[in-house]
Amino acid sequence: DMGGHDTYMHKEIFEQADAVDRVLRGRIDDRFSTVHLGGLNLDAREARSVRRVKILGCGTSYHAGLIGAQMIEELARIPADAEPASEFRYRNPVVDPDTLYIAVSQSGETYDVLAAVQELKRKGARVFGVVNVVGSAIARESDAGVYVHAGPEVCVVSTKCFTNTTVAFALLALHLGRIRDLSVADGKRIIEGLRKLPAQITEILDQEAEIKKIAEEYADARSMMFIGRVRGYPVAREASLKLKEVSYIHAEAYPASELKHGPLALIEPALPTVAIVPDDDLLEKNRAALEEIKARSGRILAVAHQEQEKADRTIVVPKNEDELDPILMGIPLQLLAYHTALALGRDIDKPRNLAKSVTVE
Ligand code: F6R
Repeated sequence: DMGGHDTYMHKEIFEQADAVDRVLRGRIDDRFSTVHLGGLNLDAREARSVRRVKILGCGTSYHAGLIGAQMIEELARIPADAEPASEFRYRNPVVDPDTLYIAVSQSGETYDVLAAVQELKRKGARVFGVVNVVGSAIARESDAGVYVHAGPEVCVVSTKCFTNTTVAFALLALHLGRIRDLSVADGKRIIEGLRKLPAQITEILDQEAEIKKIAEEYADARSMMFIGRVRGYPVAREASLKLKEVSYIHAEAYPASELKHGPLALIEPALPTVAIVPDDDLLEKNRAALEEIKARSGRILAVAHQEQEKADRTIVVPKNEDELDPILMGIPLQLLAYHTALALGRDIDKPRNLAKSVTVE
C-alpha cells in the first residue's frame, strides 16, 4: 500500500520524520545526557576499553557508516573508519581484539556483510550490528547491536533507512562519548539537536516543489559532480549513488579539497556540480571551491544553511548541531534524485540491474 504516493520511494522519503522519531523513542536519558541502547550489551568498562571502531557495509549502508565513523570520532574520540564489507573480507584483514566491529545493513541479509561478520567472529572479534530488519541473518550473527527502526523499506533505492542509520550512529556515538570524555553540556547539546530532527526533516520535505523544478532543470545533464568536505563528503557520496542508481545519470563524488588535484579538468557548463556547504568551520573553504568552479563556468547547485552567492541554485536546509548536519543534508538530494528519475521516466521503485537485497557474492 503506497498510501496515496505514486511510488514507494516517494512514500519512504516522506516517512522520514516519523522514522527518525521511532529510532529516538524511549532511548534518550535526560538525567545523564546520554542514550540507552538496550541491545548493546556493553558495560562501561568494556566501552572504555574499545580502542578503534571499524564499520562495514555495502552501498548506502557503507555511506551511512562513513558518517557514523565521523560521529564516533567527533563525539567519542575513538579512531573510527568505514570500509565496504565486500573489500574487507577479501583482503585477509588484521583482526584486533580491541577493535569494535560494526556491521551495517538495511536488509540484514547482504551476503558480503554477512560473510565479513562470520569471518570476524571466527577470528574472535566482537561484532555489533546496526540493522533495520529485526531477526535478519546479520542481526542474529552479531554479538549485539542497535536496531534502526526505519520500518519496512520496499523501494530498492534506500532512503529512510539511510537517514535512520545515521541517527542510530549518532545515538551510539553519544552513548560511547558520554561513557568517555564527552561533557554533560555537549551531551545535552546533541540531545537537543536530535530532538529537532523530525521537524527539520518536515521543513526540508516541504520544499519539494522547488526541488522538483531544480531536478527538471538539471535532468538533461549527462554527468554530475558531487562535492563535500569532511562531514559533507559522505553526504556527497550517498547523493551521487542515489542519483546514478535511480536516474542512470553518471555521477561522481569527490572531496571538495581534491578538485584541484584532477577533476577540475572536467568542469564546464555541461557538468553541473552539487556542493554540500554546511555552515561550519569549513564554510570559507567550501566557498572557495565554489569560486573555482564558477571561474570555469560550471553550474552549481548548493545544499547549504544559507543562500550561496556563487551557486546558481541553493537548497537551504535547517541548521542543526555541526555533528548532526550530515543527517539532514542528504534528504533534499533524495528528492533531487527522485524527481530527476521521474522527469526521465525511469522505473523508480525497481531500477534496472539492482535488487533490494544482494544475497549472492
Ligand atoms: C542503495 C542500495 C544498495 C544497498 C546495499 C546494501 O540505495 O539500495 O546500495 O544499500 O546493497 O544493502 P543492505 O543495507 O540491505 O545491506
